[in-house]
Amino acid sequence: MSTPLQTTEPRPDRAAGDVVFAVEHVTLRFGGVTSLNDVSLNMYRGEILAVIGPNGAGKTSLFNSLTGVYTPQEGSIELSGRAGDAPVSVLGKKTHIINHLGVARTFQNIRLFPALTALENVQVGIESRQKSGPLSAMLGLPWQRREQRESTASAYQLLDDVGLANRANELAGSLPYGEQRRLEIARALGTDPGVLLLDEPAAGTNPAEKRDLAQLIQGVNTERNISVLLIEHDMKLVMSIAHRIIVLNFGGKIAEGSPAEIQRNPAVVAAYLGTSVEEAAGAAEQQAEVKLISTGSGATALGRGDADHPSPHRSGTDGSHAG
Ligand SMILES: Nc1ncnc2c1ncn2[C@@H]1O[C@H](COP(=O)(O)OP(=O)(O)O)[C@@H](O)[C@H]1O
Ligand SMILES: [Mg+2]
Repeated sequence: MSTPLQTTEPRPDRAAGDVVFAVEHVTLRFGGVTSLNDVSLNMYRGEILAVIGPNGAGKTSLFNSLTGVYTPQEGSIELSGRAGDAPVSVLGKKTHIINHLGVARTFQNIRLFPALTALENVQVGIESRQKSGPLSAMLGLPWQRREQRESTASAYQLLDDVGLANRANELAGSLPYGEQRRLEIARALGTDPGVLLLDEPAAGTNPAEKRDLAQLIQGVNTERNISVLLIEHDMKLVMSIAHRIIVLNFGGKIAEGSPAEIQRNPAVVAAYLGTSVEEAAGAAEQQAEVKLISTGSGATALGRGDADHPSPHRSGTDGSHAG
């Protein structure tokens, strides 16, 4: 028996025009594989919106489409990155342009500069929005030196905010996994985003790190007023911090609603969870505890294997990627 999960009621302001991402009928194909199939969704300013679904469901493809890594063959994606920004299409725009428009992200497979210090990694994020180019840096112009000092101070502050102040001068590659994940968030925050996309930020972290992460994400949302789009397998984490949840399966959106609605949605239970969300979260917690004692290795909350190894559940269903 598991205890009922706490859920958060929807908080976002859905006033007209307060849409961060408006995704309409997006289809993305790779050869015969349809990774997104006619997906429509809105992300509202101020919300923590979670995207869940089995491995291979299209979650990362959605992130990559929102950030200019992939350009879908069909549909439209409009972005208003910061409050008051007029919506613009992201299709065909380069990733750094979309970052300048207020979208920052972390990656399912951590992408830090391992041979730079934690501080330097965050400075890279901050300096991506400063005016200094390599030439002014070389010449050491006064305003360039001022920007440098400011970026160092801001980077320290961000490290402190994510609980890594004491790691500032350590190489990113030498940090424990959970700290690397937090460092990636600090670097993303350095670009001063209006919206933050987190791709499986809790993957491979232990229960204590997951609790810290939940707090960090909520702080980013409420204290910095940053909208958060969260891909995450850990149901306990998702149910405790998400205002709304969207469920993908085989590239299509199969459900959307509050955590409470998703937990009792029969299509979600059948397609994704195979059991109730509460049971899945409870089982995952027990599993994580067992793993900590036995091997110390991380497990995804629903026991669906890691991202690089699609779930065996998949082969049992008759869905097909071919479109
Ligand atoms: N660059 C790519 N080339 C070919 N297939 C891809 C590519 N990116 C994603 N896919 C396919 O799209 C589907 C969805 O993948 P992905 O978005 O990574 O799912 P998820 O993040 O939900 O696990 C998978 O079948 C995957 O193999
Ligand atoms: Mg993924």
